[in-house]
Amino acid sequence: IAGCSGGNDDTIVPGTNAAFAPFEYEEDGEIVGFDIDLAEEAIDRAGYEVGDWSDLKFSSLIPSLNNNDIDLIAAGMTINPDRKEQIAFTDPYWESNQSVLVQSDGDFQPEGESDLDGARVGAQKGTTGESETERLRNEGVIAEDALKRYNNYVLAVEDLEAGNVDAVVVDQPVANNFAAGRDVSVAFVIETGEQFGMGMRQDDDRIGDINDALAEIRDDGTYDDLVAEWFE
Ligand code: ARG
Repeated sequence: IAGCSGGNDDTIVPGTNAAFAPFEYEEDGEIVGFDIDLAEEAIDRAGYEVGDWSDLKFSSLIPSLNNNDIDLIAAGMTINPDRKEQIAFTDPYWESNQSVLVQSDGDFQPEGESDLDGARVGAQKGTTGESETERLRNEGVIAEDALKRYNNYVLAVEDLEAGNVDAVVVDQPVANNFAAGRDVSVAFVIETGEQFGMGMRQDDDRIGDINDALAEIRDDGTYDDLVAEWFE
């Protein structure tokens, strides 16, 4: 049956990559965050059961969705044409740019893209942050071997703190969150104007119910409550 995971059309099994606070992260062995609450609320209001969360590599989320291992991606995932060829997205629920993080008290304090000349720049594999580092490489700003790819953004920021990479490109709200809790700060912002959506299989009709639920969550103020809880 189309749109089924484990043969159960009443349950929506969500997947994420839980190293992207405050959207999704692990705390005391539990996956928590804005995306987690928003997705669970949407699935519930749409009339489905919330399945057990899967914590996967970011680059495995789309294959796992299309394999029926999960039914919904809630992972701060940017809606883009490449992904839209593979999966369907809900209506957008967030807007973001990319921020460039550096060590707070380091000598390297770039003010714009051209200052990244000669720098080692990191991002999580399979993300739009990685695409930005690839663009910088294609434009000749950074060298081929200066591009560092990580399995998740926590590892990238730890490597930045350790001095093994000079800058990390990551979604703006997540960069701000790292800057609040670690010895890193935002050097400058790359205006990418991205929108986040939840991903579902292209043949899964339940996406209409999820979109209706997301609209209701916005209209009745629940969305603002969640933003206040996780971002302020
Ligand atoms: N918004 C970026 C993208 O779609 C990064 C998302 C990373 N999300 C995560 N849960 N690690 O590529």
